[in-house]
Amino acid sequence: MTGRACVRVSISLLGTDFTELGHTLERIRLSGADSIHLDIMDGRFVPNISFGWSIAADIVRASALPCCAHLMIEHPEDAFNAFVGAGVTELLFHVEATRFPFRALHLLKRSSIRRGVAVNPGTQVESVVPLLDSVDTVLLMSVEPGFGGQSFFPGTVAKVRALRSAADRSGTPTRIAVDGGIDVSNAAALRDAGTDEFVVGTAFFRAGDPAAFVRLLKGA
Ligand code: DX5
Ligand code: ZN
Repeated sequence: MTGRACVRVSISLLGTDFTELGHTLERIRLSGADSIHLDIMDGRFVPNISFGWSIAADIVRASALPCCAHLMIEHPEDAFNAFVGAGVTELLFHVEATRFPFRALHLLKRSSIRRGVAVNPGTQVESVVPLLDSVDTVLLMSVEPGFGGQSFFPGTVAKVRALRSAADRSGTPTRIAVDGGIDVSNAAALRDAGTDEFVVGTAFFRAGDPAAFVRLLKGA
């Protein structure tokens, strides 16, 4: 196993057929993936609309795996209580979507869930270094948010390396997650750069053998 030991794999439902959701959740559970990634989109922060907290609550109820909410919405603080109430175990909001990220993180501190920030490809890693003491996870977008099935930004590998160095220097146990265009062609470089978790949609649902695919991503 190269790079990080036991990299986690979280499966994004964005591209799935929601009329088959129960079957999809079972496929994901059987694949050995660690969690479900819920892409929440408001049509304003990103040019797409997905689903809200009531659907998220249904998915949480139906899933044997823990669920993470990736909020690609403006004013994410306004939705924190609803998604915590939906039963997600992790909530990530975009640093670009609020002027007060510390205040937003403080709001989440009271809940017992993992909290973190997501960072668009065009946002510098340096902008989240001051937040490292206040987050459990930093999600580095390797595509522009809003859609599944996009091409991976190769520059993300260097971004992971820079963030890993910054987290190690600050002595914080930050989980570094990468989201967008992940597949077997870029996973090893990302693992070696210090990635702790992959968020995958398209490549998972295209895999002929999902369990083997997940093992490959984990570096097993
Ligand atoms: C994009 C979402 C990602 C995306 C990942 O805005 O945040 O989670 O759905 O899907 P793929 O693996 O298809 O890029
Ligand atoms: Zn996502």
